[in-house]
Amino acid sequence: MSAFTIKEALAKDAGPIADLLKELGYARTLAFARRKITVLSRSDSDTVLVAEVQGRVVGLAHLHLAELFHEKGLLGRVMAIVVNKEARQAGVGTKLMSSVEKLARDAGCVKMEVTSGIQRDWAHAFYRKLGYIEEPKRFVKVLE
Ligand SMILES: CC(C)(COP(=O)(O)OP(=O)(O)OC[C@H]1O[C@@H](n2cnc3c(N)ncnc32)[C@H](O)[C@@H]1OP(=O)(O)O)[C@@H](O)C(=O)NCCC(=O)NCCS
Repeated sequence: MSAFTIKEALAKDAGPIADLLKELGYARTLAFARRKITVLSRSDSDTVLVAEVQGRVVGLAHLHLAELFHEKGLLGRVMAIVVNKEARQAGVGTKLMSSVEKLARDAGCVKMEVTSGIQRDWAHAFYRKLGYIEEPKRFVKVLE
């Protein structure tokens, strides 16, 4: 695969980002993706990065910064990471992760966190390889 670059997502990236969300298992419209990019780009606590190959978006990572109540500093949370099927296993995901980790470190984060569905075996191998350690458990409640 050709060289790739990492940059901040823009509203014009909404089309390929909607496709990436679909690959992640979330079918969302173009308008939905565009609105989210706009909202997140206005937030001081969020950054959406995309990986591009020859001007084509092939991957995305969303970082959220959260102040920690019980520790000094902030938590960097990877809210989403996905690489287009054709572009996988070429280092794009690793570069996206190192880019969000750098942003997090520079913003004062002392820890990174990512949650991953139990079925996503490949992603688990990926996170382990990058030095992430599994820490159960997670409890969620959907608010209607
Ligand atoms: C997880 C994901 C983002 C990794 O992106 P990527 O660009 O393929 O990652 P890299 O090329 O940097 O791979 C680095 C390592 O991850 C692991 N890995 C990535 N894809 C893998 C696969 N298909 N099978 C096994 N291990 C894999 C390997 O340890 C790999 O190291 P190696 O190349 O030395 O074998 C990508 O596979 C993806 O988008 N998956 C679907 C969406 C998803 O599950 N996202 C995570 C949600 S929690």
